[in-house]
Amino acid sequence: MKDQFLLPDGSNREALRQMGYTFVDLIVDAVLAKQGGDFVAQEPNFCLQIPGKSNSLQEILLAIQTQILPATINLHHQGYMGHMDSVPLGITIWADALIAAINNNMLSGELAPIFTDMEVKLLHWFGRQFGLPPTCFGTLTAGGSLANITALFLARNHCDRSIISQGNTKPLYAFVSAAAHTSFDKAMNVLGLGKNHLIKIPTNYRGEVLVDRLETAIKNVTKKGGIPFAIIAVAGTTVTGAIDPIGDLANLAQQYNCWFHVDCAYGGAVIFSQQWRHLLAGTDRADSITFNPQKWLGIARTCAMLLVKNREILETAFAQDLPYMNCHNLNLGNLTLQGTRRTDILKLWLALQAMGLQGWAEYIDRSFTLTQEFCQIIDRSPLVRLALEPTLNIVCFESTDPHTSNRALQQKLQRQGQYWFSLPQWQGKELLKAVLLHPYPRLTDIL
Ligand SMILES: Cc1ncc(COP(=O)(O)O)c(C=O)c1O
Repeated sequence: MKDQFLLPDGSNREALRQMGYTFVDLIVDAVLAKQGGDFVAQEPNFCLQIPGKSNSLQEILLAIQTQILPATINLHHQGYMGHMDSVPLGITIWADALIAAINNNMLSGELAPIFTDMEVKLLHWFGRQFGLPPTCFGTLTAGGSLANITALFLARNHCDRSIISQGNTKPLYAFVSAAAHTSFDKAMNVLGLGKNHLIKIPTNYRGEVLVDRLETAIKNVTKKGGIPFAIIAVAGTTVTGAIDPIGDLANLAQQYNCWFHVDCAYGGAVIFSQQWRHLLAGTDRADSITFNPQKWLGIARTCAMLLVKNREILETAFAQDLPYMNCHNLNLGNLTLQGTRRTDILKLWLALQAMGLQGWAEYIDRSFTLTQEFCQIIDRSPLVRLALEPTLNIVCFESTDPHTSNRALQQKLQRQGQYWFSLPQWQGKELLKAVLLHPYPRLTDIL
């Protein structure tokens, strides 16, 4: 036990420092420097052993090196393009250790004074970047799913405040594209509204929702006595990276008196690029926005946010006090579904300090350039062809050979240590998908 806490006389300070250095070496040499090699070196075979007496640091390190690291997915590999997994920015790796050391709690202002202030100010700044009004507000959440669930919770309570105390008795319906993330199904389930009350609207072949079909669906639901309460636009769909016509959906939301949520968990990062931010035109009309800096901004997990037009929306929807905390402070635990929460805002702030606006712009623009280069590789290869034109840095493609399935090709390239692509289901077939998030990706021909 004595090794784990700093003794008041400071006599083990050097030992604690050495423990840290050991982990720094491990992280740099055994994790970050694994840009080649295997995607996964060995099958997981985790052997649970709880020691009676403490293990030495050497024994612990050995277990990490032999049992754990070889069975992790190596996202640092330059050929890893499977999912929306980014190589974390260096500063966010060390920030996570700093956050753990400080160990403040975002539950209340009293337990995280500077971080509460930081979260309010920084998320207000993000809200403004998306064009929300000066009254905007936001909180970090443990992922985009939780942000989307919270958004529909706000929408539900906004539609009928009596639900907060009485529960729901009305036939409420939400509308989203068929290409949207499954967290909206989860939200309807968790909120007691029913998954069948989430109306999924068809998209075109790229994944952009068909606006006229959406309007027809709203009219049909209304004709049958249903109450439309939320319209969701997706900016950066999970499979193809498509962006819905945000402005058109905002118009429908206004016309049919619905809450308007924009899920730009993935695509939101383009606000940092002067060249590409036009893709998000219309987010200024949102009632709420989901954005995940843990995806395309390279913040080590977790870091996601929910932004809203003003703070009262959250205060009204949660209508909750923390009787055991000083009520004169701002207690963010009253305004989110989570209670105790890490101070991930420090990580986001440090990343902004280290990258600057220019660094982010370069990173996003570079991603688009690398995507073009990757598309040229696809064009050159006799084995594959593009399945659709990419909107962001997500490329969907397929085998040209009727005798070689996309799955067989994916497994061959993965086995050879060339590329790791994923195999999402898209409109009835399995496609190959590459996400160009690695800042220095492998860009050699697919053989
Ligand atoms: C568009 C979109 N929204 C929401 C989410 C959910 O985010 P999380 O996995 O952080 O819960 C994802 C995840 O991939 C996503 O692609």
